[in-house]
This record gives sequence, C-alpha cells and structure tokens, in this order.
Amino acid sequence: MDIEKIVTEAKANQVNSDIKLVLKILSFYSPKVILEIGMDKGGTMKIWSQAFQPDILIGIDIVKKPDEVIEIVRPNYHYLWDMNSNNLETVNKVKEILGDRKVDFLYIDGDHSRLACERDWLLYRDFVKVGGIVGIHDVLFHNRETEADIVWSNIKTLFPYSEIKTSHSSTGWGLVFV
Ligand SMILES: C[S@@+](CC[C@H](N)C(=O)[O-])C[C@H]1O[C@@H](n2cnc3c(N)ncnc32)[C@H](O)[C@@H]1O
Repeated sequence: MDIEKIVTEAKANQVNSDIKLVLKILSFYSPKVILEIGMDKGGTMKIWSQAFQPDILIGIDIVKKPDEVIEIVRPNYHYLWDMNSNNLETVNKVKEILGDRKVDFLYIDGDHSRLACERDWLLYRDFVKVGGIVGIHDVLFHNRETEADIVWSNIKTLFPYSEIKTSHSSTGWGLVFV
C-alpha cells in the first residue's frame, strides 16, 4: 500500500501525518466492511477505498456538497448523501445494506456536537464486530461546535484505545478497539 500517494491524492480534511498513522494501524486489521459518518467531499472515503478495497463501503452525509465531490462507483459502495446519521431512517438503511455483515471499521466524523456525536456512537456501535475498530475525529480539540472530546472521554473508559496527534495543528484521532 502506497500510503504517501493515497493520502496526498485524496485531499481529505486531515492532517496528513495523522491519517498516515491511522492507515498504518488499520492495515494490521485489513478492514473489509467500512462505515463512515461525515463524508464531506469524499476524501476519506477515497482513502479507505484505495487502502483496503473494502467489500462494502458506506458513507453518510447530511448534505451533498455542490462541487468537487469524489464518488467512487463500485458495487457495494454506497454514498448516502442528504441523510442525517442521527435519524432512524438512516440507521435502517445501513442495516439493510449490511444484511448479516458486521462493520470492521466505523469512522465517526459527522456532527461534532456532544449530543449528535454521542448518538452516532450509540446508534452505530452495535454494527461493529467484536474485534473491530471505531475511529473518532477531533477528540483532542474543543470549541463551541466541536465537542467530540467530551464523548471520547467517556468512550475511552470502555475499551482499549489509542489517541493520535502527530503535529501541533492536529485536532486528534481516537481509536477504540471494541
Ligand atoms: C469534518 S467533515 C468530514 C470530513 C471527512 N471525513 C474528511 O476527513 O475528509 C464533517 C461532515 O459531516 C457532515 N455532517 C454534519 N452533520 C451530519 C449529520 N447529522 N449526519 C451526517 N453527516 C453530517 C457535514 O456535512 C460534513 O460534510
């Protein structure tokens, strides 16, 4: 896997050195079923697609950005645009797509308010297999709209975890091994 190339080309909303380290860790697990909440322009979806060639890749975003959206068309790649991850309709859609498959890697990077982020965790964590991984972005940062750190401080008491912050500008990644 050419991590350097994958990360540079994807133009995700990420500190490159953070996401490279996340990819190195995830590569030990070779996730084949991946669910992302908060796609923005699809940068991290592209990264998961190129790094792991998942059998099933599902992304959710409350709004489709008018331009520059990267959407990779493959069977079993599902871009759920204009869907609120906090709604049960969206949970049911994910359930329908997954069928009897479990998620190997869940990435939560949607609405960063405490309530919405906590609800994403509560609504989607049961889709993740035992031995799977949940990643949450911005867990080492706080402002009025970004409260994932509060949710993270609870979640990390429940499972083995890693925190990633590779540079001063990084807002931090949290990984829990569920
Ligand atoms: C920080 S961006 C995601 C960045 C992307 N994961 C990346 O690294 O390139 C957060 C995204 O979450 C989406 N979002 C916000 N609230 C949401 C919700 N309730 N349900 C689904 N997506 C949501 C926003 O539209 C935005 O595109």
